[in-house]
Amino acid sequence: MNLIIAANWKMYKTNQETKEYVEKFKVWQGELSGSQVIICPPFTALSAAGEALFKTAFHLGAQNIMWESEGAFTGEISPLMLKEFGVRYVIIGHSERRWIFGETNEQINKKINTALEYNLIPIFCIGEKAEDHQSGQMEKVILNQLREGLEGIDPEKIKNLVIAYEPVWAIGTGIAASQEDAAVAANCILEEIDRIFEDRSKVKILYGGSVNKDNIGDFVTIPGIDGTLVGGASLQADTFAGLIRAANSARVYREV
Ligand code: PGA
Repeated sequence: MNLIIAANWKMYKTNQETKEYVEKFKVWQGELSGSQVIICPPFTALSAAGEALFKTAFHLGAQNIMWESEGAFTGEISPLMLKEFGVRYVIIGHSERRWIFGETNEQINKKINTALEYNLIPIFCIGEKAEDHQSGQMEKVILNQLREGLEGIDPEKIKNLVIAYEPVWAIGTGIAASQEDAAVAANCILEEIDRIFEDRSKVKILYGGSVNKDNIGDFVTIPGIDGTLVGGASLQADTFAGLIRAANSARVYREV
């Protein structure tokens, strides 16, 4: 199975920078085809990225979504607007949304529902804070985020769901989770998915948090982990391409 490698650009890159990045990055598409690559630029660069990525092997993702299709919701963006740009994936419940902007599990649940309704694939982020990690609460915290985030979701609607385990303390810190912690989290998520949907095959698990080309092999070789969500190391086209190459060769090694 192809790896999934998603780039979360956060609030970086203008339209011009996006065009330059994608033009450069596109050149490597044949070589990087062992992974399913998703680029999630800011909303303002979706149009430029969508045009530049059109007819390439790469996919377009967004970083957030509103749970209504239109209405008086100042500053929000609807699934219809995202789809117009060719968006296929949407990051939901990223820890920066949860902890800087106060997004709740209930709102995240509505967003997941809406994304699925509009045939967008959610990249649903969960992860514990440093204090929960230190006090051994990781499983409890992520299970709660998972249950509340997926509450009442119709299993029939799930053709695809991506869940990203992103410990908050690992994001942007340069301190990635250990292989062991990531494996425990992936296993815990998959067991819960079995309990909720009685079918883990429609769900893919990513690890995110300080992934780079030197450590990506540690994560993509963990059984149950299907790829990574990458922030900082996705911001330069050549660095990101190098990281994908490293992931693809580590994966080949796992499959041998
Ligand atoms: P990072 O960010 O790779 O810079 O740690 C990951 C993320 O926020 O998704």
